[in-house]
Amino acid sequence: MKILHIKSSILGEHSVSNQLSQAYLSDELNVDQQANVTVRDFAEQSIPHIDGALLGALGTAAEERNSEQSKMVAFADLLISEISESDVIVLGLPMYNFGAPSMLKAYFDQIARAGSTFSYTENGPVGLLNDKEVIVFATRGGLYQDTPQDTQTPFIRNFFAFIGITNVKFVYAEGLQMGDEMRDKGLAQAKSMVEKLSTVAA
Ligand SMILES: Cc1cc2nc3c(=O)[nH]c(=O)nc-3n(C[C@H](O)[C@H](O)[C@H](O)COP(=O)(O)O)c2cc1C
Repeated sequence: MKILHIKSSILGEHSVSNQLSQAYLSDELNVDQQANVTVRDFAEQSIPHIDGALLGALGTAAEERNSEQSKMVAFADLLISEISESDVIVLGLPMYNFGAPSMLKAYFDQIARAGSTFSYTENGPVGLLNDKEVIVFATRGGLYQDTPQDTQTPFIRNFFAFIGITNVKFVYAEGLQMGDEMRDKGLAQAKSMVEKLSTVAA
């Protein structure tokens, strides 16, 4: 079992999504001690935004790339191979200013590549990363679950479906900035949602 742990919070060890996803993983690793975890932590290494330089590098034949272009493509290749090789993706997903962290969007831009993670067909795009599971730990200061203001859930589902992954489960911890009582309630809800998840090792 290969697990990719994506930490998209900027808060490192203070991040609630990091803490919740790590606690979940620690429990799963007790069950499956052979599991192999790769961590992609955006607080440790930034994900560059897609720009004209990266698109230009991707559009240049490998043997004609300069060293800067080769470096850019090598990093995107690494991100694609990390997710392609994983069986389970555990994603920490904070809400920042009503949406996903901008580095998570940048990450998606890095890994959405025709021929690698999806392909174009006469019936439209088809995802190439099948048979994977995603577990999302969504942390929010306020309350959004099941409201039209929750732009994150459809965005995340749509993106993973685009690359072929439709088995996506969400754990929500909400009300984290609404006082101690609401925070405790939000964390308790997250805990009970985790208990209902089928385990990674199952
Ligand atoms: C820059 C920033 C923007 C935020 N924007 C929102 C927001 O739009 N809505 C909300 O409910 N909470 C917002 N929050 C609160 C976070 O969602 C909350 O602190 C959550 O714990 C973040 O996850 P993390 O601890 O894993 O980083 C914001 C926090 C930060 C640091």
